[in-house]
Amino acid sequence: MKKTILLLILLLICGCSNIKSVNTNIDDNYYCNVFVNMENKDIIDQLKNDNYFICDKLDKYLDYVILNIDSISNIVREVNVGLYRDYYTDTKKSDLSKDYLVLVNKYHYLNSDYVPNDLEVISNDCNVGINNNLRRVARQAFEKLCYDAKKEKIYIYNLSAYRSYEKQYKIYNNNLQTKGVEGTNSVSAKPGYSEHQTGLTVDINLLSKEFDKTNEYHWMKENAYKYGFIERYPKDNEKITGYEYEPWHYRYVGKEVAEQIQNENITFDEYYAYYIDDN
Ligand code: DAL
Ligand code: ZN
Repeated sequence: MKKTILLLILLLICGCSNIKSVNTNIDDNYYCNVFVNMENKDIIDQLKNDNYFICDKLDKYLDYVILNIDSISNIVREVNVGLYRDYYTDTKKSDLSKDYLVLVNKYHYLNSDYVPNDLEVISNDCNVGINNNLRRVARQAFEKLCYDAKKEKIYIYNLSAYRSYEKQYKIYNNNLQTKGVEGTNSVSAKPGYSEHQTGLTVDINLLSKEFDKTNEYHWMKENAYKYGFIERYPKDNEKITGYEYEPWHYRYVGKEVAEQIQNENITFDEYYAYYIDDN
């Protein structure tokens, strides 16, 4: 009888440890809910090492790798901002609860009736435009930037800040007449998809790529972040932002975030995907 009980206990222990070891093996073969095998192990190891790797997106990175011959770093940044699908597809409403960190781009839109409730007029000292409203926090920061720059004989002024949905509709459609669909989409946002509707954006001085040859541009490059502004559509990031280089278009994101974006040398789209997006 004793022997039988001992045998039973022994069988139970062996049985349990067997089950445990099988489960452990299964667990070891999954990473971020994606099955790891010999074929994808290498690529997953490389992806994991990227600074902006997001676990939940692993299956999307792997799909994207098959279709795009590119560096791991580009695969990660492009998938993070949503480029595994065409612009303006599978779009989402912008999350207004993020306040001055709201994201508006080719995948995130504002309703046609959205108008910020704290728009204020930019001082004439810092403005020559008709669209001369900014949200309070951005208006204050922009004027401080403008007055401080002036002390160094650098003259920064607004050309176009807040634009309503209707205003953007007119601009976009005017562009369509002269530039065609593709040409328009590379420089102009569809109504609802323009960051100008947030009241946190300001076009300054000169709407031309030549603006980057001026002292004003160089001053902005070095100082804008100290006031909470970032260059929103930087050179060599056209695919990520969805727009051609716009050295004149600045976006208020607050001092802390602007400094981090400056230090990490990333776009706001990437910053949002990695540090803010909680969907
Ligand atoms: N030019 C920028 C992209 C806009 O239309 O909002
Ligand atoms: Zn602009």
